[in-house]
Amino acid sequence: MKKMIVSYSLTGNNEDLAASLAAALGVDHVRITESKSRTMLTTALDMFFNRTPKISMPLETIETYDWVFFVGPVWMGQIATPFRACFKQAKQKIGDYAFISISGGADGPNLKLADELEKKLGKEPVALIDLHIADLLPPEPKPTRDDTSAYRLTENDVKHLTDTIVATLDKTVVH
Ligand SMILES: Cc1cc2nc3c(=O)[nH]c(=O)nc-3n(C[C@H](O)[C@H](O)[C@H](O)COP(=O)(O)O)c2cc1C
Repeated sequence: MKKMIVSYSLTGNNEDLAASLAAALGVDHVRITESKSRTMLTTALDMFFNRTPKISMPLETIETYDWVFFVGPVWMGQIATPFRACFKQAKQKIGDYAFISISGGADGPNLKLADELEKKLGKEPVALIDLHIADLLPPEPKPTRDDTSAYRLTENDVKHLTDTIVATLDKTVVH
């Protein structure tokens, strides 16, 4: 089975996780990048006007992979907007896929991700793993959005999250 990771990260958490997963699984890793620098306003406008931001991504060979693992953040309950153009390109071309995220989780689970993936990629993910920074922080006082958004994963966090994800994928992904 040929597998690849396609990742996007704004502040580094999902980049560190994706790189660690690529090493642990021994799979190719392709990154989505944006030529324009992103601000909170850019993100708010993407959401408000349902924009598909321009990205660059070497994805020509995606159809030669049996499995794609998308790794990236959740913004305002949705998959980070730089994935939109990627999903448009990947729809009809990909086989099985999973979506994996280390998101903030201060407001609880991100309940709309499965619907969004099915809508944008035309089929359900085999695995949807949304892990939360809030679970890495002390439970009291309850982590706020500011706490989770400011948090950067440590090496230990990345290792622990990678082990958790690999164990989950072992149960769902055909080898
Ligand atoms: C604009 C914005 C919106 C966010 N919205 C959510 C959200 O709805 N749910 C969530 O769990 N985390 C949310 N987060 C937290 C990020 O998902 C989290 O900080 C993530 O680890 C950042 O990933 P990155 O470092 O790879 O960019 C948001 C962060 C930003 C900047």
